[in-house]
Amino acid sequence: MIGIIGGSGFYELEGFNVQNLREILTPFGFPSGSYVIGELSDREVVFLPRHGLEHNIPPHKINYRANVWGFRELGVERLVSVGAVGGISHRMVPGKVVLLDQIIDMTKARDSTFFDGADGADSVVHIDFTEPFCPELRQALWEAGEKTEIEFEGAGTYICVNGPRLETRAEIRMFAMLGADVVGMTAMPEASLAREAEICYAGVSVVTNYAAGIMKKKLTTTEVKDVIRGTTHVLKELLKGALKLIPAERKCACKEALQEAKM
Ligand code: HPA
Repeated sequence: MIGIIGGSGFYELEGFNVQNLREILTPFGFPSGSYVIGELSDREVVFLPRHGLEHNIPPHKINYRANVWGFRELGVERLVSVGAVGGISHRMVPGKVVLLDQIIDMTKARDSTFFDGADGADSVVHIDFTEPFCPELRQALWEAGEKTEIEFEGAGTYICVNGPRLETRAEIRMFAMLGADVVGMTAMPEASLAREAEICYAGVSVVTNYAAGIMKKKLTTTEVKDVIRGTTHVLKELLKGALKLIPAERKCACKEALQEAKM
């Protein structure tokens, strides 16, 4: 089973046969919404709208642990994460679709592990996160991306901020110096929780705007929404293409991420 987490617009995927909706209560509370289970490109697929169906959950209030836990409970082994980002490096122009390959985490006070000793039982876990994204899942998305007419970047470093405010000019200047290509608010701790859950995880970002201070004009959510609307179609094509290319069996190390990770 393959999970897709992203905007609510993905429900209306052409050729997506919805079979049922699942509401799941996890040990960490409720996920962002009901999981939508169905069939797409002859694969069993589960969708979850990260910000809720009404888009009313801000990035810092998302229950990342419940979202990832719910996917695992449904038997999801691979998770494709779709999100909007601001473009920092010069190739990251609005409308581009970026297959992420690295992350810098600048978030604050988000519950970022399933193993926090809250019940006094579990050990402390330090997963290897050198490569935050699954190479096998990235390969399928990369091949699909190269085949479409999308303005596509095969790699990029994502810096995750807490939000919900946008950045200052100086912050973006600093992020550029740190090597970040794009800035967003949701990849962390989603990516590391997926690794803790031994779920393969890949991130696809849509550049919706130039990051703060890169252009002279003020940033608006109007431009962000316009780009999202304009790119939904190509993103769906990319996902459908990738679904056909994901191997049936996992050969990557993600499935044993917890081995030799416990103290
Ligand atoms: N900054 C942070 N997150 C974002 C942006 C941005 O400019 N655009 C879309 N998500």
